Amino acid sequence: MEALKVGVIGATGYTGEELVRILCRHRQAKLSYVSGKEERTVRIQEIFPYLQGAVDLECRTFQFEEALGAADLFFLSLPHTVSMQVAPQFLAAGKKVVDVSADYRLKDTSVYEKFYKTAHRDTVNLGSAVYGLPEINRERIRSARLIANPGCYPTGAILALYPGVKAGLFDEQGIIIDAKSGVTGAGRKADKALNFSEVNESFKAYKLFEHQHVPEIDQELGAALGRPMSVTFVPHLLPLNRGILSTIYVRLRKDVTTDDLIKVYADAYRGEPFVKVRPGGALPELRHVAGTNFCDIGLRVNPGKKLAVIVAAIDNLVKGAAGQAVQNMNILSGYDEREGLWV
Ligand SMILES: NC(=O)c1ccc[n+]([C@@H]2O[C@H](COP(=O)([O-])OP(=O)(O)OC[C@H]3O[C@@H](n4cnc5c(N)ncnc54)[C@H](OP(=O)(O)O)[C@@H]3O)[C@@H](O)[C@H]2O)c1
Repeated sequence: MEALKVGVIGATGYTGEELVRILCRHRQAKLSYVSGKEERTVRIQEIFPYLQGAVDLECRTFQFEEALGAADLFFLSLPHTVSMQVAPQFLAAGKKVVDVSADYRLKDTSVYEKFYKTAHRDTVNLGSAVYGLPEINRERIRSARLIANPGCYPTGAILALYPGVKAGLFDEQGIIIDAKSGVTGAGRKADKALNFSEVNESFKAYKLFEHQHVPEIDQELGAALGRPMSVTFVPHLLPLNRGILSTIYVRLRKDVTTDDLIKVYADAYRGEPFVKVRPGGALPELRHVAGTNFCDIGLRVNPGKKLAVIVAAIDNLVKGAAGQAVQNMNILSGYDEREGLWV
């Protein structure tokens, strides 16, 4: 089979770099175009020296016409608002797009406008974009031309809640998601608040009740439930590079034990290559998933309080971004879903 030619726009950022790394070991896709925003005359393996011997590509300053002829499928690892200017051009030219930004995730443009402080500029393609969470939308992903790759926090939170919400086990009004992310979650661009000396040896909550990932979680879980959802989401900044640990508190509607709840989740995710439900109430840690495309989930019930605690761990740059983007490409291209991602 002829290799699928793929391009990464935004290859010099954190998620773009991770995409390049994964695509270099992919046996069916061929990385044929990489670009950033800054003017550079440099090869990608000079920017990321560990790629020497794995790839030999000039890292261009992004120009649409030049990119167009170089690949069949494009990953957009771009800031939100930039993706929705670029994606329509590729789609109009018959290319497939996996957008890692938030631009095509929220179906309601007024919600997008509220949380991203700008009007949506591509409502035409928004309608046909498929939310790329394979464990929920695999069949729709197969025939998609535009994938809205999920956010990092939403990936962990939705996978942790979906089976219980769908089974009607949780009181959907009382869900509290207490999530902690490493610093790469904010991207490589300069930001004073993310300087080493600001983050190291500290730990803080931020954007209480107003984080842009809240509507994404509500949208996808609401669709599973069949009625509107409204979670409480409190993100924290961890003084480490990568990983998101979400500790989620839910009130139970029914009398279930830890073993019952684990069985619901194990059944829901049976056969899923990248979701692992921990047996016997064991809880995941970030080091168990760092550098992998796995989402590990642990569950415990406190029967006296009719309360369950769910802990989910992902790597924000892999299952939370680049790994999931490649998983989506694998599905829509008919490849083994695990190609390039195992383990
Ligand atoms: N970081 C995460 O954990 C994560 C997880 C899920 C989703 N996301 C989303 O993924 C997207 C990328 O995130 P990131 O963390 O990789 O960001 P990043 O590290 O800041 O990288 C952004 C990339 O986009 C390029 N770029 C910026 N403006 C551009 C423009 N106008 N035209 C062409 N290229 C442009 C930058 O090029 P230069 O290097 O030349 O400036 C860089 O390569 C964001 O929308 C983010 O919300 C991030």
